Amino acid sequence: MDTTNEVKVQEEYIEKVKKINEGKNPKYNILTMGCQLNENDSEKLCGMLEKMGYTKTDNVKEADIALFNTCCVRENAEDKLFGKLGELKRLKEEKGLVIAIGGCMMQEKHITDKIKESYHFVDILFGTHTLYKFPEDLYKAIEEKKKIEDIIDVDGEIYEGLPIKRDSLIKASVTIMNGCNNFCTYCIVPYVRGRERSRSPKSIIEEVKHLAKSGYKEITLLGQNVNSYLRVEKEKNIPFDEYEGVNSFATLLRAINKIDGIERIRFVSPHPKDFTDDVIEAIADCDKVCKLVHLPLQAGNTKVLKEMNRKYTKEQYLELVDKMKKKIPNLTLSTDIIVGFPGETDEEFEDTLDVVRKVKFEQVYMFIYSRRVGTPGDKMPNQIPEEIKHKRFNKLKELVESQIEENNQKYVGTVQKVLVEGESKNNTLMLTGRTDSNKVVIFEGDKTLIGKLIDLKIVSEHMWYLKGEVLN
Ligand code: SAH
Ligand code: SF4
Ligand code: F3S
Repeated sequence: MDTTNEVKVQEEYIEKVKKINEGKNPKYNILTMGCQLNENDSEKLCGMLEKMGYTKTDNVKEADIALFNTCCVRENAEDKLFGKLGELKRLKEEKGLVIAIGGCMMQEKHITDKIKESYHFVDILFGTHTLYKFPEDLYKAIEEKKKIEDIIDVDGEIYEGLPIKRDSLIKASVTIMNGCNNFCTYCIVPYVRGRERSRSPKSIIEEVKHLAKSGYKEITLLGQNVNSYLRVEKEKNIPFDEYEGVNSFATLLRAINKIDGIERIRFVSPHPKDFTDDVIEAIADCDKVCKLVHLPLQAGNTKVLKEMNRKYTKEQYLELVDKMKKKIPNLTLSTDIIVGFPGETDEEFEDTLDVVRKVKFEQVYMFIYSRRVGTPGDKMPNQIPEEIKHKRFNKLKELVESQIEENNQKYVGTVQKVLVEGESKNNTLMLTGRTDSNKVVIFEGDKTLIGKLIDLKIVSEHMWYLKGEVLN
């Protein structure tokens, strides 16, 4: 569907709110939870707010609007939101702070019911499919003094051309697809983000070209399952226009690799089951595509993987890793792992440790299984007791940390290409950047190096960063 008109309507609301704000210099505070897709959505919300005349503040006490962009992939995000809301009640009473909550958690009825019942001072609730309508919702909340609930449970459309205020001037995220069709049995994302749909090749390529012109050096392509880009469209005969030869994820990588000015390309997350040879070849061929691939494992045991509906076995995962290592020189891998999925035995958990030992990941994001209302996993018998989950988590963490320490040693004495991102947060006399494999490197250097891809000699390693020296 062409959504140009809907976006135009919102531009009119942006102007209306801007008028209300004239001469007032109002401020907004935003808290973003969750994944990079949510961060990218927040950049769009910030873009809209700034066009409406708001400026950002990190201090919510100074703010006229407090905005939450929520995640619901694990339970701790809920605790965080409700804790923060409790704190805001007084600010609402004292100075009429406008409170808006959006994002994935708003697509869960039991959560919005709880907010309406116990936190009735919240002004705006909006979901993942109505983010583009934020200017209209805000206008109605402040001008018409209405409580707004703007949540729909259909598969959202793709809205191009929304304003955006990016967090960095060097690295940019570009969402290439929305939603997910995989229904892993532990995961809430398909329920709150709707069905998979891809952006058109033309709009992605044009966005990246525009970013390159604006001086961006690194692009991260985002989606819940990036290597199935355009798959649904092909399967369902939904027409799309090829642009610069792009008709798949592999061809998208190749097209972006040709864009002048862009020096690095990353992508998250691919799914192992969709890792076709053309994608492996594109990674190997494209010099700008980083050789760090995030390949979510989730569990190492075939039975657990089947229960998780991941559609690959332990052996298939390991074979894929072998094939990739053979075809992609200097490949490094990172992964996501869940411990304590319902029914997972100690023995089955050992398979996860076994895969970790064999693959030697560069980085492992570890999660304790969290029951999500509405997912098949939540209804499964044999939920694992908390203390066992924690025990397994600690065992995995120990293994991962020992591997990272060992792996870090390998960097010392090597020369690494580092994209310089800015001053180090902990020591402003030092600069910070990242290697191709996404390792943080801290080094002394001139600020003119910021935004450049430079060679650094690694002189020492620390658990979460490396120290480097500029080569003369
Ligand atoms: N689409 C991506 C990531 C989705 S969410 C993928 O398939 O890899 C990010 C990570 O959160 C997942 O990879 C998974 O490891 C973790 N996760 C998702 N649901 C979870 C749950 N119910 N409990 C614990 N971790 C979960
Ligand atoms: Fe969740 Fe699985 Fe989809 Fe990733 S692929 S978002 S884990 S359902
Ligand atoms: Fe969370 Fe939604 Fe991302 S549930 S992980 S913010 S897609």
